[in-house]
Amino acid sequence: MPTTALADHVLLDGVSKQFGSTRAVESVDLAIRRGECHALIGENGAGKSTLGKVVAGVHEPGTGTVAVAGEMVRFRSPRQALEHGITMVAQELSLVPTRSVLENVYLGIESSRGPLVDDVGHRRLFAELAERSRIRLEPDRRVGTLGIADQQKVEILRALARDAELIVMDEPTARLSADETTDLLAVIRDLVGSGTTVVFVSHFLDQVLEVADRITVLRDGRLIRTADAVDETPATLVEAMIGRSLAANFPRKVPPAADSPLILSATGLGRVGVFEEVDIAVRAGEIVALSGLVGSGRSEVVRGIYGADRLDAGAIRLEGEPATLRSPHDAIARGIGMIPESRRDQGLMARRSVRENASLPRLDLFTMGPVVADRRERVAVAEATTEVDLRCASLDMPVDSLSGGNQQKCLFARWMIDRPRLLIADEPTRGVDVGAKRAIYELLARLAAEGMGVLLVSSEIEEVLGLAHRILVMRGGRIVTELDGTVATEGEVLEAAFGTSTEDHSDA
Ligand SMILES: Nc1ncnc2c1ncn2[C@@H]1O[C@H](COP(=O)(O)OP(=O)(O)OP(=O)(O)O)[C@@H](O)[C@H]1O
Ligand SMILES: [Mg+2]
Repeated sequence: MPTTALADHVLLDGVSKQFGSTRAVESVDLAIRRGECHALIGENGAGKSTLGKVVAGVHEPGTGTVAVAGEMVRFRSPRQALEHGITMVAQELSLVPTRSVLENVYLGIESSRGPLVDDVGHRRLFAELAERSRIRLEPDRRVGTLGIADQQKVEILRALARDAELIVMDEPTARLSADETTDLLAVIRDLVGSGTTVVFVSHFLDQVLEVADRITVLRDGRLIRTADAVDETPATLVEAMIGRSLAANFPRKVPPAADSPLILSATGLGRVGVFEEVDIAVRAGEIVALSGLVGSGRSEVVRGIYGADRLDAGAIRLEGEPATLRSPHDAIARGIGMIPESRRDQGLMARRSVRENASLPRLDLFTMGPVVADRRERVAVAEATTEVDLRCASLDMPVDSLSGGNQQKCLFARWMIDRPRLLIADEPTRGVDVGAKRAIYELLARLAAEGMGVLLVSSEIEEVLGLAHRILVMRGGRIVTELDGTVATEGEVLEAAFGTSTEDHSDA
């Protein structure tokens, strides 16, 4: 019956959900059609997960109604949702690592013959399921020995074994490699092809455009629009997500004053086998970008300036004074701050609170003898987090419970407590959503306008062109070109990064 094929599978009418004073979802009317892949997108905190959880019975809506196949429902638990054929594959997978794939798939719904679990029956069902979903997994493999991608497939098989007709997947590709992602997207298309409804929560626009039939954009808990994927592009989606167009994405460039002093003057920097003869000058109020391909030596150079890596050659002057920086500790004491390339490995202490992470480099300011002046620290951190627009329910939350954008802002908050003269920002917007990106751009521009020198490393050419007053392009451990950031083009930066047309062009 074609009418049922197109019918609404789940219909939300005026659904709102509030947590304390946070309105996570507000007055959302949403129709999810049977057999479609329906993507939910939006910035961090837009309400995607909350909405998915309302559909899957994890949250009860505060107000509004939910209908499944035309019937009003009021789920009080995921189990009740599952009785209506709805389940969720959450980011935190819920498998038993010590059990086999087969056992995990049938855990809790075993059909038994007397006291024995019906192993033969399960194997037959498993084979059918594998056939139907085209998900191939070894039934006797222990789940704990599988990678994330395969564990996710076990979760999908579990859902199917429970006769799920609608599966909510919350950021299922967030931790997958490119190949694994391609594979999972194919599984999703197969599921949809065989009649399963999939709600796909993601902030990867290319994936959403590839896999979804329809896309709903959320912003601040509200539904902005639902449209056919074929009618959307990355640009239209971004605009809907952030409420303005991409062209306006960079703050206005304010050039440094003609007589503004040199903050950093590094000459002849070298590290054997990594980079050589690197000269970098940054003036107060200036944003200087180090551009170039991954591996060209950008991060190594800034780590050398920061004292995180040894330098074999060269001299550094800070505000005209010679400086010997043997460690980040020396660098911080001389007025240099750094946002490291990897916030996980080099930056944040994941389990520690926002407060501890923000005050870390300047704990000395709050320490009197053996004790930390708790109140002064709190006040300083509160001011710093407000300044960078970091949003969190409490400063005592562990930093890894924040969205990527807010984690990155926490790294910036560190340097608001006692401002450095020079801020080194290595890939400051990696892995953050468009809204947080914009906030970070504004922050960098404002800090420079207030007189800080900024040394930016970025792989995003758009970002380099949008922010920098001057662009230094590195190739093979040397600075090969200097460009004026107000007039440089993407082509010029790329040409310098790859080399002239006669060399190195093969991997362009
Ligand atoms: N259990 C909860 N308790 C309190 N606040 C919550 C809870 N769950 C979500 N929120 C808040 O509700 C808002 C929407 O959050 P939600 O997790 O739905 O957003 P999201 O679009 O999934 O974001 P992300 O892209 O970061 O995953 C946020 O402000 C969030 O802090
Ligand atoms: Mg979410």
